[in-house]
Amino acid sequence: MTVHFIGAGPGAPDLLTLRGRDLIARCPVCLYAGSLVPEAVLAHCPDGARIVNTAPMDLEAIMAEIAVAQDAGHDVARLHSGDLSVWSAMGEQLRRLETMGIPYTVTPGVPSFAAAAAALGAELTLPGVAQSVVLTRTPGRASSMPPGETLAAFGATGATLAIHLSIQNLARVVADLTPHLGADCPVAIIWRASWPEERIVRGTLGTIEAAMPEGIERTALILAGPALGASEFGESRLYAADYDRRYRPQRADSPWAEWSEGDD
Ligand SMILES: C[S@@+](CC[C@H](N)C(=O)[O-])C[C@H]1O[C@@H](n2cnc3c(N)ncnc32)[C@H](O)[C@@H]1O
Repeated sequence: MTVHFIGAGPGAPDLLTLRGRDLIARCPVCLYAGSLVPEAVLAHCPDGARIVNTAPMDLEAIMAEIAVAQDAGHDVARLHSGDLSVWSAMGEQLRRLETMGIPYTVTPGVPSFAAAAAALGAELTLPGVAQSVVLTRTPGRASSMPPGETLAAFGATGATLAIHLSIQNLARVVADLTPHLGADCPVAIIWRASWPEERIVRGTLGTIEAAMPEGIERTALILAGPALGASEFGESRLYAADYDRRYRPQRADSPWAEWSEGDD
């Protein structure tokens, strides 16, 4: 018996990996994390599967469900939205499974920041403008931020910020970032990226609050940083005509010349 953690993606049911789909189809038990996991993903469960929404359950109750599946010898598909590496609460479940001696696998999913960037048609790392993306959040009712992980500190770097779980704190985001990035720094809010009702609101730190329409709440990502509005950026050296590289050696004495004749 194994528990398969599966990233269910940002909302569009066809943004699930093939591996994730096949695992769901094999597991007689499916535990899924609430409203962010689309119904259509649950349709991959086999007939007669036990399908449980864990949103109203505490950790003990979730582990009790898994223990029942273990007694029955049933594999479990454990679905969380987006990818499992950020804000999935997978870590605490893995720790319990290790204590219980239950094996697990982890299958990644499309994270919401990637779906949001796709909705914008934006590359978040533009040469000469931003070469880092910070996945972060503001403090919430249940979660404080470790000291040092402040928006001000991240904003001061000029990296592209993907701010999760924070649309209700937009005023604070604006107040914290403006001294470092300026009121004309581009911002985009992507609500329900990849869902049929997806909405995009664009502005700057100075204008975004006034631009927000009614009804944009909860499942929204705030992207901010100079890269979001840049039209003046360099081209990557990778595709430059004179760039000497393994797949395109430019000179007979290139260290890559023998690679191109070989098996790589
Ligand atoms: C509990 S976190 C889950 C993050 C998820 N594990 C991921 O990989 O993106 C939920 C937050 O992710 C963001 N989010 C998740 N799905 C989203 C979507 N489809 N569109 C915009 N933001 C999304 C929102 O900021 C939301 O408050």
